[in-house]
Amino acid sequence: MSEINSIKNSAGRGSGTPGRPKLNVADAEAVVRSEYGIEGVASPLPSDRDQNFVIQASDGSRYVLKISNSDANRAHLEAQEQAMILGETANISVPRVISGASDQSLIEYLHPESGQHFLRLVSFLEGEPMARANPRTARLLNDLGQFIGKLDHALVLFDHEGAHRDLIWDLRNAGDTIRTYVERIADRRKRQIVINILERYEDSVTKLEALPHQVIHSDVNDYNVVVQLGDDGLRISGLLDFGDLSYSVRIAELAVACAYSMLTKTDPVAAACAVTAGYQSVIPLSEDELNVLYPLICLRLSVSVCMSAYQKEIEPDNDYLTINEKPVWELLEKLTDVSPKLAEFRLRNACGLDPFPGSRALVDWLGSHQTEFAEIIPHDSCMVFDFSVGSTEWAPDELMKPGLAREEIGSRMRAAGADLAIGRYDEPRLVYTGDQFETPSGDQRTIHIGLDLFQIEGTTVHAPVGGTVHSVRDNDSPGDYGPTLILCHEPEDGPVFYTLYGHLSKSSIRELVVGENINAGEKVAELGSMDENGGWAPHLHFQIIGDLLDSDGNFPGVAAREEREVWKSLCPDPNLICDIPIEQFPLPEMSRDDIMSSRSLLLGPSLKLSYANPLHIVRGFMQHLYDTDGRRYLDCVNNVQHVGHSNPRVVEAGALQLRTLATNTRYLHENVVRFADRLTGTLPEPLSVVFFVNSGSEANDLALRIARAHTNTEHMIVIEGSYHGNISSLIDLSHYKYAGAGGSGAPPTTHAAMVPDTYTGIHKSEDAGERYSYEVVEIASKLNDRGESTNFMAESALSCGGQILFPEGYLVSVYDTIRAQGGVCIADEVQVGMGRIGSHFWGFQAEGVIPDIVTIGKPVGNGHPLAAVITTRELADSFSNGMEYFNTFGGNPVSCAIGLAVLDEIEEKGLQTQALEVGSYFLKKLRDLVSRHEIIGDVRGRGLFIGIEFVRDRETLEPAHTEATYIVNRILEKGVLLATDGPLNNVIKIKPPLVFNKENVDHVISSLDEVLAEDVVRAVIQ
Ligand SMILES: Cc1ncc(COP(=O)(O)O)c(C=O)c1O
Repeated sequence: MSEINSIKNSAGRGSGTPGRPKLNVADAEAVVRSEYGIEGVASPLPSDRDQNFVIQASDGSRYVLKISNSDANRAHLEAQEQAMILGETANISVPRVISGASDQSLIEYLHPESGQHFLRLVSFLEGEPMARANPRTARLLNDLGQFIGKLDHALVLFDHEGAHRDLIWDLRNAGDTIRTYVERIADRRKRQIVINILERYEDSVTKLEALPHQVIHSDVNDYNVVVQLGDDGLRISGLLDFGDLSYSVRIAELAVACAYSMLTKTDPVAAACAVTAGYQSVIPLSEDELNVLYPLICLRLSVSVCMSAYQKEIEPDNDYLTINEKPVWELLEKLTDVSPKLAEFRLRNACGLDPFPGSRALVDWLGSHQTEFAEIIPHDSCMVFDFSVGSTEWAPDELMKPGLAREEIGSRMRAAGADLAIGRYDEPRLVYTGDQFETPSGDQRTIHIGLDLFQIEGTTVHAPVGGTVHSVRDNDSPGDYGPTLILCHEPEDGPVFYTLYGHLSKSSIRELVVGENINAGEKVAELGSMDENGGWAPHLHFQIIGDLLDSDGNFPGVAAREEREVWKSLCPDPNLICDIPIEQFPLPEMSRDDIMSSRSLLLGPSLKLSYANPLHIVRGFMQHLYDTDGRRYLDCVNNVQHVGHSNPRVVEAGALQLRTLATNTRYLHENVVRFADRLTGTLPEPLSVVFFVNSGSEANDLALRIARAHTNTEHMIVIEGSYHGNISSLIDLSHYKYAGAGGSGAPPTTHAAMVPDTYTGIHKSEDAGERYSYEVVEIASKLNDRGESTNFMAESALSCGGQILFPEGYLVSVYDTIRAQGGVCIADEVQVGMGRIGSHFWGFQAEGVIPDIVTIGKPVGNGHPLAAVITTRELADSFSNGMEYFNTFGGNPVSCAIGLAVLDEIEEKGLQTQALEVGSYFLKKLRDLVSRHEIIGDVRGRGLFIGIEFVRDRETLEPAHTEATYIVNRILEKGVLLATDGPLNNVIKIKPPLVFNKENVDHVISSLDEVLAEDVVRAVIQ
C-alpha cells in the first residue's frame, strides 16, 4: 500500500489505528487453508489500517489476503468487489476476488483481540509500481490514460449504495479538506502555495456538479498502478486497491492519475497531457471537464500535502512521510511557474480541441476586417526572408548569430529595392540560443510566433487597429525585445485581443501611458537601434495575442516545438493584419510524412531509414545535425563529415572551384596533382601513385582490378562480417552482404577468414593475433597446393564487423603469408583512415604493416563524393596494360579542391591530435560505465573509432541486440545520434566528426548512463 493510502486511511481518525486486524502469519496461512483450500506461505505487506498478506501458494500461484479494519462497511466492500468483476469482464487487469469454500467472497473472521473483520482473497497482479518505473515515457502515460478510461467506461452504468460515501479525498470536498488541514503545514512559504491554490481554484469545485458523475476508482496514484516490461518497453499491467472506490465526478479520476504522473517530471504538464490524451481516446472529454482538470490536479496535490502535514503531527518521528511528500512539494513548487491557462490550452490540444478556445472567433474577426487595417510600417515593396533551420539563403553562422545577420539584411534589402523585409511567422529558427530561450528540459525554444518587419532604426511604427495601451516596458536583457509595447483591442463586433510591438526605441515609448487611447493608423513608436533593442538587426517583432496568460509587459515570441500548435492557436498569424501577399513567401517545406510517403512511392524499397522514428534532418554544422523543427542532435556516427558538417573551409573551397571550373582529368589542372601530392605525402613509401574515383565502392573495385592485373589470380581472402562496397564485385567480397539477408553466398574465389575477435571469439590469449592469422595461412596454403595464389583485402580496423581492432601481430602475419605466395594486400581505409584513430594518420600504420594498395573514401571529401586508390608504381604499371582508365568525375578540380581543404583543415586544426585526446577521454569514461552497467560487455577502440559491445551475461556473452537497439532509439530522445553494428547488431559504434570535443563526450556519457539505468535495459540482467 502506498504512503498516500496510509496517510489517507488514518486521516481524521486521531492517533493509533483502532480496529486494525491483528492476524499473524500463521493465522493468515491457516485461514487461507481453511477458507480457500490453499496451502501457502504468507508474508505481510505494509498497510496502516488494514492488514494485507501475500500468499505464495504451493502450486506457484500468488494471492493477496486482505483483512479489513473492524469498522469496514460490508456494502462498500461489496461495491469494490462488483467493480473489480466489471473491470475484469471488460478485460482490464484488476485483482480478481476469489470465492471461499462456502462460495462467499467476503468472509467474516473473528480475532480474539482485534475483533470482527472481513477477509477477502484476491489474485496478485504482477509488476512494479509505476512510481518506480523508469522511464515513465509519454507512451506509458498515454497507456495509463487509456487504461483508466477503459475502467471508467466499464463502470459507467454501475452503481451501488456502498459507493456513495463522503470521503475526505473526494475532490468535490477539496476546499473543505484543504481549509481544515492547511494550517498544519508548518513552513509558511509552502503553506502559502496551498492557500494560493485554494483561492485560485476553489471556484472550479462549484462547477463539478454539472459534470458527468459515476463510480470511479478514485485513487489512481503511482503506487496503485503496476507496470511490466513487454516486448516494446514498459506497459501498464494493472491497477490495485479499490479501497477508495466511490461515486464522484468522473473527471476526478483523470485528475488524480495526472497528478501522480506529473511527479518528478521536468515538464509536468506534458505528462498530464499524455495521460489525458490516452483517457480521452476512450472517454471523450467535454470542454467543461477540461476546464476544471488542471485546477483539480492542483487541488489533489494540495490535499495530499495537507494530509501529510496532519499525519506528521500524529507521527512526528516518521521520516518516511517527509520523504514521500517531497516529490509532491517539488511538483507544487514547479507548478507555481506554470500558467494555468496555458496548462488548460495544452490539455485541450492533447484532446484535439482548439488549444485556445477563442482562436476561431479571433481569426474570423481578423479575416473579416483584413482590408480595414492600417499599415504598421508603410512600404512600397517588400521581400520575405527565410530564416528557417534548413534555409539555404543564409550561412549557418548567420542563422545562429545572436541578432541575426545584421549587416547582410540591410544590404540584401537594398539590392532587392525593398523598403520592408519580413521574417516569417511559425518559422523554426536556430538563432534563439540565449538562456531565456531554454525550456525546463534544457532544450531551446525555436518556433517564431510573431512576424518580423525589418527596416532601419527610427522607422515609424503605426497601430494597425485602434485600442488602448496595455503595457509599456523595456525588456532589456540581451536577446529580449528591448522596449516593448502591448496594445489591447476591444472591437465592438469581435473578441478582445492584444498586439505586441517589440524592439522599439527607448525614446519613442517614453511618452506612452497605460490606458491611453490609440487610433488605427496612429504612430505609436519607432524602431530601436541594436544597442537598445536586445541586440538585434533593427526590426519590429509584431505579434497578435489572444490571451496574455496573466502576463504583463512581456510575452513569449518564440515557442517550444512541442507546444507549437498551442502557441499558434493563441497567437494567430500576424499576416492576417499585415496582409503581405502570399506569393511573396517561399513555398512551404514538405512535411516529414509527405517525404516518407513519397520515398516509398519513388525510391527503391531496399533503401532503409535509420531509427524507429526516422529523422527529418535539414541542416548540419560541425558535430551537430538539426531537424526541421530546430532540434539539435549530437552526431556520433557520421564519419563522412570528418572535419565537421558543412565545414566552412570545405564549403568555400568547393563553391569557389565550382564557380570556376568543373571538368574531367583530360585537361591539365593543378588541383589534381596538388591533391595527389598531398595525399601521397601522408603515406609511406612505396605508396606513391593515385587514382581518383567517386566512392569507396569504386575505389575498392579498382583496387581489385589492379591487384588481379598484378597477381593474375581471382582468389581473395576477406574477413567475416566485412563490407567493402555496393557494387557486384564487392558484394562478392563482402561477407556482411553475401552471407547476410538476401545474399547468395560466396563465389568460389572468395575465402572468408574468421573475425579475429578477442572478446567473443575463440582466441583470447596474448598470442591471439598469431592464432587467428593461422586460418589465413591455411587458406593460402591450400590454394598454393593447387598452384594458385591469393590476394587479401581488409579494413585496417573492422567497422561493420563490430568496431574491432586487430590483435597484435595479426596483420603482420597475414601480410607475410599473402606476400610469400605472390599475393598483394589491400587496406580498406574508407572508414578508419585520415587521422580518426589518433595515434596514426592511417589505420594500417598502427598495425605495423604497409599495404600494396590503399583505398580511401568517406572522410576524404567530407560529404562530397570523392575517393581514391593509392598504390605502388610497380602495381600501377602492371595495371597499365594498354586499356585506358577513364573516370568522368574522379579527380575533377572541384573534388580535388575539396580534398585539399579537408587535408588543410585536419592539419591546421590538429584534428588527428584531437581525435587521440578526445578518443582516449571517451574510452576512459566509457570504461567507467562498465562497473555500473552489467550490460556493457566490452569497450574498445582507438581515437574516435570506438565500439561498445552489449551482452546479456558477461559469462556466456549472449548478445544484447534488442537492448542495443533500444538504447540507440532512446538516446536519440536525448539528442544523441548513435547506431548499432556488428554481425549480431549488439555493438554501438561511435565514429563522430573529428571536431567532437570533451564536452560532447560528457553529454553522451551522461545520456548513456541514464538510459542504461532504465528498467528496459536493466531487466535483462535481473
Ligand atoms: C569499409 C568500407 N569500404 C567501402 C565502403 C563503400 O563505400 P561507398 O559507400 O562510398 O561506396 C564502405 C561503405 O560503407 C565501407 O564501410
